[in-house]
Amino acid sequence: MKIVVKQTAEEVDLAAAREVARQLLSRPESVLGLSTGSTVLGLHRALLRLHRECGVSFAGAVTFNVDEYAGVAPDHPGSCRFRIFEQLLNQVDIRRENCHLPDSEAEDFEQEARLYERRIAQAGGIDLQILGIGMNGHIGFNEPGTPFERDAHVAVISERSLSDKAEFYKKAGIAPRKAVTLGIRNIMRARRILLVAKGAAKRGIMEKTLLGPVTTEVPASVLQLHPDTTVILDSAAAPLNSP
Ligand code: GLP
Repeated sequence: MKIVVKQTAEEVDLAAAREVARQLLSRPESVLGLSTGSTVLGLHRALLRLHRECGVSFAGAVTFNVDEYAGVAPDHPGSCRFRIFEQLLNQVDIRRENCHLPDSEAEDFEQEARLYERRIAQAGGIDLQILGIGMNGHIGFNEPGTPFERDAHVAVISERSLSDKAEFYKKAGIAPRKAVTLGIRNIMRARRILLVAKGAAKRGIMEKTLLGPVTTEVPASVLQLHPDTTVILDSAAAPLNSP
């Protein structure tokens, strides 16, 4: 794992956006794994700047979001679809048909998970997977205890994750219980992974993720085993003895 510690959250956003830009410049037809959440908001903003000011193009890119809430309407401002389009995809030169998220209104969510990972395989697999991290170490919606072999699936959102995000869910007017998420196995298949964490509240979980044992109790700790993962943190989120 390559670990990069920046002084400020803004520097993290820029460094992370540069990683995405590097990917797109070296392979314009890249398949990007996208995330939503408060952490990646700044990354999306910085990426939009690089798109507008430096001509970093998404014209050949394909995107797959890591997760989506089951049962939240796609045009609801709280859905991952609405947010990723608003924050990023609507503002760049990507082809709309190249932007993918699980269908939040599928009749059979397990089947939707199967279809979704098949679409990723057909696109050639994910080149760069962008991830935030939950306070309990979840990546995507792979909650503690999820086996590392798990493929895309319907995840029950843990009580802990619901309460950590209670304010966001209340504001957004959604009460999700389940999500369709890529599994750890799908995430580990990405050729490169970029994990971003900011703020003192994430320091404890980042210490476990980076320095603790690899365990399903801390899903993100599996990234220690991935051959090409970059972790970008601000100094508040960085464990004191960062390697
Ligand atoms: C959410 C998502 C994750 C996200 C994480 C962190 O619940 N399932 O994909 O990375 O939690 O969110 P935040 O960046 O708001 O802390």
